[in-house]
Amino acid sequence: MDGRSLPRMVTSIPGPVSRRWIDRMSRVECPAITARQPREKEIGGVSADPFVWEKALGANVLDVDGNRLVDLTSAFSVAGIGHSHPRVQAAIAEQATRLIHGMGDVYPPRVKIELSEKLAHVVPGDLEMSILCTSGASAVEAALKTANMATKRQAVIAFSSSYHGLHYGALNVTGYRREFKEPFRSQTGHFAVHMPYAYCYRCALGLAYPTCRLACLTLLKNTLDDLGSGIAQVGAVLVEPILGRGGVVIPPDEWLVGLFELCREREILIIADEILTGFGRTGRWFACDWPGLVPDMMCIGKGMGGGFPIAAVIGKPAVMTRWGLSSGEAIHTSTFLGNPLGCAAALAAIQVLEEEKLVERSRQVGEWMADGLDRLQGKCRLVGDVRCRGSLAGIELVTDRESRTPATRETSSVIQLLLERGYIVGLNGVHSNIIGLTPPFVITQDQIRAFFQAFEEALESCDR
Ligand SMILES: Cc1ncc(COP(=O)(O)O)c(C=O)c1O
Repeated sequence: MDGRSLPRMVTSIPGPVSRRWIDRMSRVECPAITARQPREKEIGGVSADPFVWEKALGANVLDVDGNRLVDLTSAFSVAGIGHSHPRVQAAIAEQATRLIHGMGDVYPPRVKIELSEKLAHVVPGDLEMSILCTSGASAVEAALKTANMATKRQAVIAFSSSYHGLHYGALNVTGYRREFKEPFRSQTGHFAVHMPYAYCYRCALGLAYPTCRLACLTLLKNTLDDLGSGIAQVGAVLVEPILGRGGVVIPPDEWLVGLFELCREREILIIADEILTGFGRTGRWFACDWPGLVPDMMCIGKGMGGGFPIAAVIGKPAVMTRWGLSSGEAIHTSTFLGNPLGCAAALAAIQVLEEEKLVERSRQVGEWMADGLDRLQGKCRLVGDVRCRGSLAGIELVTDRESRTPATRETSSVIQLLLERGYIVGLNGVHSNIIGLTPPFVITQDQIRAFFQAFEEALESCDR
């Protein structure tokens, strides 16, 4: 399979072989972890069963029925360097001949040390000390625990519509979707306070940028300074520099800069969640590089392992050392921390990003996408807003540009039409009306061009 090819559909989606697999899956998989039912509901009865992946290479995916699709999601924004990169494959295979599993915190594998050193080089500023993890949510939780150890202050400010994972600790700070949080509220903590994000297209305060003069930031400042607010002492602010799952919301740079200043003035730690935006996604190594900001801690994951599950929190030594020295047992650890295969995969993925100049390429992909996005916004009435930075784009669909009513049903239909034509895109935003594009950086201009043609046609046919 050529990872640079256009789609080639040989059956409808899902095809007969996919269906058989889905039936088998539905008997053994807990419904909690399948998107099947909700997707059926969203699109009003039309079958949108998932299709079953067999293989993926570069920007292409092959399903069990032999359909070839172009993946504009990098499978949850992971495969920035492309699916199944040969150098990542080789690094995993080579590492597997020597050491598949080690004793992360007790007797560290050599490759874990090499990766930790490499991470300290690629992240901005003086972020040097890391805790390796196996998922984004566990990286967020390691950051929250570190902030607690460092400040001894209880409350954490997070933002509406932000997504930080669904583990019990991470659920506190995630601001995305009530149904993810509500059933567990009685058992999870209550240490997070959610403030409005600078989502200027849907301003929570009903204002318009820039005449608002960042009133949302002033609100945050006043809340922090109001001794009668009822909020416990704030130790950390956790922020996605661009809201990912919450709708690809790109705040004004000055909002992020102001937020960092507010925190510095009050000695509040700032944790940047770059799990989605890191490793080249926005056309720089990290989204914080755009305004030149260095947080106290940064959570990273997704693209870091080239597809292998590995994540980390990396922070300033002055903060990370507040854990104190171990008195024998590590106070924070897990069995697969620093797994040698994951470390080897991450080292290879970072090398690929560097040597194949894929961060620059991600920026180039953004320019190709910007052309297509401009055309869509000019021509298609359903398109309310488009947002793009590097290889990260969001297209917000509305039934009416004046009222900005979310076009939830139409968004599902567009996604389904695109799938039928062989294009995989993401569904984002609390109103499920934002199409998210996070293609592999190795996607070609031809693939992007053909995709935007299909996108325009899908939008037009859903606007009738
Ligand atoms: C910004 C951000 N933080 C955290 C997470 C959680 O990562 P994981 O799904 O690996 O636990 C995600 C996942 O989408 C994310 O986008």
